[in-house]
Amino acid sequence: MNHQTSFPKDKINILLLGGIHPSAETYFRDQGFSLIDSRRGEMTEEELCEAIPSVHILGIRSGTEVTARVMEHARKLLTVGCFCIGTNQVDLKAARKKGVPVFNAPFANTRSVAELVIAEAVMLMRGIPARNAAAHLGTWQKTAAGSFEARGKTIGIVGYGHIGTQVGILAEALGMRVLFHDIESKLTLGNAEPVKSLDALLKAADVVTLHVPGGSSTKHLIGQKELAAMKKGACLINASRGQVVDIAALDRAIRSGHIAGAALDVHPEEPVSSKLPFHSPLQGLTNVILTPHIAGSTAEAQERIGRDVAEKLLLFCDTGATAGAVNFLPVSLPSHAGRHRILHIHENRPGVLAAVNDVFAKASVNIASQFLETDADIGYVVTDVDEKKGTGLKAELDRIPGTIRTRVLY
Ligand code: NAI
Repeated sequence: MNHQTSFPKDKINILLLGGIHPSAETYFRDQGFSLIDSRRGEMTEEELCEAIPSVHILGIRSGTEVTARVMEHARKLLTVGCFCIGTNQVDLKAARKKGVPVFNAPFANTRSVAELVIAEAVMLMRGIPARNAAAHLGTWQKTAAGSFEARGKTIGIVGYGHIGTQVGILAEALGMRVLFHDIESKLTLGNAEPVKSLDALLKAADVVTLHVPGGSSTKHLIGQKELAAMKKGACLINASRGQVVDIAALDRAIRSGHIAGAALDVHPEEPVSSKLPFHSPLQGLTNVILTPHIAGSTAEAQERIGRDVAEKLLLFCDTGATAGAVNFLPVSLPSHAGRHRILHIHENRPGVLAAVNDVFAKASVNIASQFLETDADIGYVVTDVDEKKGTGLKAELDRIPGTIRTRVLY
């Protein structure tokens, strides 16, 4: 899709840091932007403070921090894109105060995770990890003992969200029975069956796979009691968050033979860099697959992240749409063909909307449509006005007390 941009593309500075996938730069260039500074390296806070005043669109990955100080130096910044899943590296509050929405790509790697989970389910049910380890040591474990087909077996999905549903669809294609447990009522895909309690799911599944969010509510969701509730010989897969499984309890359940195998992509303590060592009590257990939090890390996911985030950034710049922003009110907007669109971001205090509309009334500007979203501290009002009548109003709107930022889109 080619966006009809409402600003001069040849004057927009785009800074992309940290080796963002080339799909992002390609997307921007395809849309007609040329001032793109794309770098493999990250920038320090100091370097970014120096660079940011002239930047309109900033793209980063997890290694660049956008601090409150960086935001203070931003003069023209419209939006920030985190070309990754997490957004902890950005001071979201500071960005919000400046009227700068921050976008990311939370679901671009959903399919990658689901595929690995299915592959691991098959590997675990066939006892491959241990046989692979033995073969590397010169031992020939040619036996059908402890080796099962996936077809006809039951997979129990805990957390039936974006990833859980994809796992369910792929598992069903293999002929598995799909059960899921979620704390929310969910639309069931295919023949998946909801199970009311976690306990009932654990008792019924041959493979249990976890796809819940992290945090205190899911910490040690799977502990000694839950592992004991699982079928003898069942397998466990965790590609969600490390704290969801009590590793000491899992260690005991595997060593006792109650759990036949496990695949863990996430761990309670993960090294912050590839240069640091990784430790787990499960190291050396040949029926346990340990991977370094790479379930979502594929070429396709990276490519999708590049394109998805670039699209969101441009959509915001063009239309003011903030749906999908992590620090901003979610506003989905139709296009404003034939009209001027005026975006007004302000502190949420009484009287601002009235003052905005007063500016339009005094200038005899006809409001074609208006969208308003507020939360505790920010208000975002988007007004479409008759063509060519928005231009002169920016200065007036900027003068309204509490205004954070005004933009006129043509
Ligand atoms: P999602 O938010 O779409 O789905 C999570 C689901 O879990 C929701 O349906 C929610 O209602 C449910 N849930 C929450 N608490 C629950 C509980 N106590 N019991 C049962 N269900 C519960 O999240 P998404 O995108 O599917 O991600 C799932 C997990 O995978 C997250 O922890 C995420 O951080 C992780 N992840 C890991 C990756 C990796 O590389 N290993 C990559 C991407 C995501």
